[in-house]
Amino acid sequence: MRHLLSCRDLDLTTTTAILDLAEEMQQVQSRPVKKLPALRGRTIVNIFFEDSTRTRTSFEIAGKWLSADTINVSAKGSSVSKGESLRDTMLTLDAMGVDAFVIRHASSGAAAQVASWVKAQVVNAGDGQHEHPTQALLDAFTMRQHFARHDLGGFEGKRVAIVGDVLHSRVARSNVILQQTLGSEVVLVAPPTLMPTGADTWGCEVTKDFDEVLDSCDIVMMLRVQRERMAGGFFPTEREYTEAYGLTPERLAAMKSGAAICHPGPMNRGVEISSAAADAANSLVLEQVAAGVAIRMSVLYHLLGSDEGAMH
Ligand code: CP
Repeated sequence: MRHLLSCRDLDLTTTTAILDLAEEMQQVQSRPVKKLPALRGRTIVNIFFEDSTRTRTSFEIAGKWLSADTINVSAKGSSVSKGESLRDTMLTLDAMGVDAFVIRHASSGAAAQVASWVKAQVVNAGDGQHEHPTQALLDAFTMRQHFARHDLGGFEGKRVAIVGDVLHSRVARSNVILQQTLGSEVVLVAPPTLMPTGADTWGCEVTKDFDEVLDSCDIVMMLRVQRERMAGGFFPTEREYTEAYGLTPERLAAMKSGAAICHPGPMNRGVEISSAAADAANSLVLEQVAAGVAIRMSVLYHLLGSDEGAMH
């Protein structure tokens, strides 16, 4: 694998290998000395043109724990703010001998465009409304551990509901692809205004009625309402949105026995998810965050690692 731009780059064998290696990487998280020599001498630039807490920090931690030199660049504070183009910025950094870029950008397709320009390897850390592949991998990793912990079997036949602002969600697009690769059934739940045109051709069930599908789903993944990407009125009021699509305490109680809650974060508590649901015993939200480091270590190792001394 040269780049990770989309979950379409991941077949079942590669996905399983990334999840399996992440299980081993996760053990580093609980060690007093969190360091492996696997990527010693490699240079990774995390370049973020959009805000991030989880993705940027976990990629930086992942690179450091693998002994890579990691550098963070944000648009604010770089020469992008003086008008330098994306292409010139990336070619400039590439000329310094970078091994990999982890890039987040507001434009769909930006990561693939960058990959076509630079010699370094590229990981898509979120491009507009297109994809966020490492988020889908960490979600799958968290679900797999939840299923294993409760003797619920594998992904085959599981129903995963992805609920809310599907229209603006790169997390939803990546999860639809990866969950189908793993064998789950995906149910997309959104008001018609927040369901992308053509979603009915993505190979998943599509509905506007959350309550109709809630008690049949093994995973309920709530999506953030992305106000910053909304130019117009996509729903009448926040209160009405919450009534129809929020994971309220009442819906939390109506979930299938053994089902779990995911949210990629950041959460809008009281809008798409109640605090009762976010902090419930069956909420996997903080496990998802922890999994982010292990998955990103595994992805960086798959892209940049050598065979020698990787895990010691
Ligand atoms: N889930 C996610 O991508 O979070 P950040 O925007 O904080 O990176």
